[in-house]
Amino acid sequence: MKLTDAQRAKVEDLLSRMTLEEKLGQLNQESPSIVGGFDVPFPELIEMVTEGRLSQEEFQKIMDTAQRDYHEEDIRAGRVGSMMGNDPVKANELQHIAVEESRLGIPLIIGFDVIHGLRSVYPIAIAEAGSFDDDLMERTARMAARESRAYGIGWNFAPMLDVARDARWGRVSEGPGEDTRLAERFARAKVRGLQNDRSGPDSYVAACLKHFVGYGACEGGRDYNTVSMAPSQLHSVYLPPFRAAVEEGAATVMAAFNDLNGVPCTLNPYTLRTLLKGDWAFPGFVVSDANAIRECVVHGIAADEAEAGAMALRAGLDMDMGTHIYRDELAAALSAGRISQTEIDDAVRRILSVKVWLGLFAHPYVEEPVIRSYAAGLPEAHRALCREAAEKSLVLLKNAGGLLPLQKERRISLVGALAASDTEVVGAWALGWEKRDCVSILQGLKNAGADVGYYPCGGPEGALDTAEVERACADGDVIVAVVGETAAMSGEASSRAHITLPGRQRELLALLSASGKPVIAVLMNGRPLALGWESEHLDAIVEAWHLGIGMGDAVAAALFGEINPSGRLSSSFPWDDGQEPTYYNHPSTGRPAGKSKFTSKYLDVPAEALYPFGYGLSYTAFAYDGLTVTEREDALEIAVTVRNSGERPGTETVQLYTRDVTASLVRPVKELKDYRRVTLRAGASETVTFRLPKADLGFWNNEGVYVREDGLFQICAGGNSRDTLTEEITVRF
Ligand code: NOJ
Repeated sequence: MKLTDAQRAKVEDLLSRMTLEEKLGQLNQESPSIVGGFDVPFPELIEMVTEGRLSQEEFQKIMDTAQRDYHEEDIRAGRVGSMMGNDPVKANELQHIAVEESRLGIPLIIGFDVIHGLRSVYPIAIAEAGSFDDDLMERTARMAARESRAYGIGWNFAPMLDVARDARWGRVSEGPGEDTRLAERFARAKVRGLQNDRSGPDSYVAACLKHFVGYGACEGGRDYNTVSMAPSQLHSVYLPPFRAAVEEGAATVMAAFNDLNGVPCTLNPYTLRTLLKGDWAFPGFVVSDANAIRECVVHGIAADEAEAGAMALRAGLDMDMGTHIYRDELAAALSAGRISQTEIDDAVRRILSVKVWLGLFAHPYVEEPVIRSYAAGLPEAHRALCREAAEKSLVLLKNAGGLLPLQKERRISLVGALAASDTEVVGAWALGWEKRDCVSILQGLKNAGADVGYYPCGGPEGALDTAEVERACADGDVIVAVVGETAAMSGEASSRAHITLPGRQRELLALLSASGKPVIAVLMNGRPLALGWESEHLDAIVEAWHLGIGMGDAVAAALFGEINPSGRLSSSFPWDDGQEPTYYNHPSTGRPAGKSKFTSKYLDVPAEALYPFGYGLSYTAFAYDGLTVTEREDALEIAVTVRNSGERPGTETVQLYTRDVTASLVRPVKELKDYRRVTLRAGASETVTFRLPKADLGFWNNEGVYVREDGLFQICAGGNSRDTLTEEITVRF
């Protein structure tokens, strides 16, 4: 985000004319408050949904007709800087008030959770990162930016960049997985896609990097939980994706809910002022997460709301999401000398700068034709991109005896409640989709001309109809069982202690496999699952995640071999949930798991992941040889030859890893440094070269300093994080 001199002057001019109340108004974000239109009090409604006394659908119906307060009076009085929402008509109404009726005419910045698409929902982030396709990640973000603007949204609360290694955490679905380098590449691609297309005023939005920082390391995978880590880990593992995104020009950042080594991120001067705004020279603004300033009182770090507000502003938090603490308490804090005018002005300046950069002053409204274009239906190009992303993100985990791809003549018994659902395909944090755009797996198979009989039998929520299972087993030549999690089982506040298939789905699979017919499991889920049993008992497993609106067609294309699966895992899958956290790039121990009892492992489950990071099969096979490492002045040049040794064309993701063999701190056993997708026809080979800057072989120490240490390094290349060729080289800096 760069401003011209004229834009900067505009910001300063406004700032010089604002009253204190107007300044505090800019720091205040509102969302439409739900004020009535239903019989029971709102908090009780929420309780009823949580306890299952009211279904999601019924709740949605109530919400659709609820009365809302859009805070028009406050907007008119200059007491609101930002609104949440995705209704373009309402956005225009409110924007007209802000621009035409408030004293200074400062437009609102309207923000919304557009996490993996708005109307066009593409795969959840953990899946899309597994495409290892940076260009795709950028294009989906660009599509999301355009759609957002068409809905009046100028600010997307994405990308989520939390490296996450404990699959019990429900929010692993929203981020790019367990690896820092992949997360950095994802971060850059998303910021470019959201922000860089300036072909028109409606083609870009402000990105919001979240959740800053360490949220993915919440203890035990319990959402909102405490986070403790050594500085070296914070700097080497959790900060780099944020830093990469800031370098790419990201306009805003959201502070995380959690405390980091005892200091809540909402009011953490080290992360917000020293690192983000100081060392990284971040020019944009920081917003709190919802209600988080108030929660600092509950954290036990501030005596009351007024103190929490003052601490947060001093620490570098610019905008208050969800409480009115900044609006109502900061004037008194200023008179009492607990915060300074400079701190307030700095926050206001940052927010105004983003508004100016977004072009909101020149172009505050959504135009009628843009609103109408989506009402008529999705543009074909958006639909096609959703399908492409879905096809590139699904991962083939097992394919015994080459069962897949299926011939279309084979009769399929399609099993599982999820298979016919056109609403679960979108996954967690999907808020702007329409049912008419979604393709269920059943529909996808029908579209592809499959000979299919459908038997729901049961699903993630528990029911199991054994009579129907018998009918399913009697019918098809082959059984395709769609099993996994509902969308609500991952995402925010959806941690699970057990990450095996929920409900009676394993029992369902056991009954199906006892029939003797081949069983293919298509998994639809938002987190890595513990699949030890499934990997031993089923013939084929396709990890299809929540792939978005194009899910059904993409799954059908993969099952019939119309595409060759090329997705890879962005997170390791354990055998058993007791193994969590399982991640490939763990620090080396003094007793690596081995045959001896006295090594680092469990007695009752394998030490390694079942399916490691980077893993994924294809309908063809790839072989590696000829790994060479050549030292150049300031880089290593690495070459490896990959050959398509099977009988079909296919796409492989060639992955480059390193290991620092001896260092002043214990280092990970392997770390991804680079990757490249390569498409090869049967029998063809290609030599892939990587240029690895030597500077990339350093690491952050516990003083927060990036150090480069001479010594021995292993350089590994291969098709996943486990099966690699290895060479060694001594590097001097
Ligand atoms: C809470 C979530 O943690 C965050 O990711 C989201 O953007 C905000 N609420 C706004 O909905």
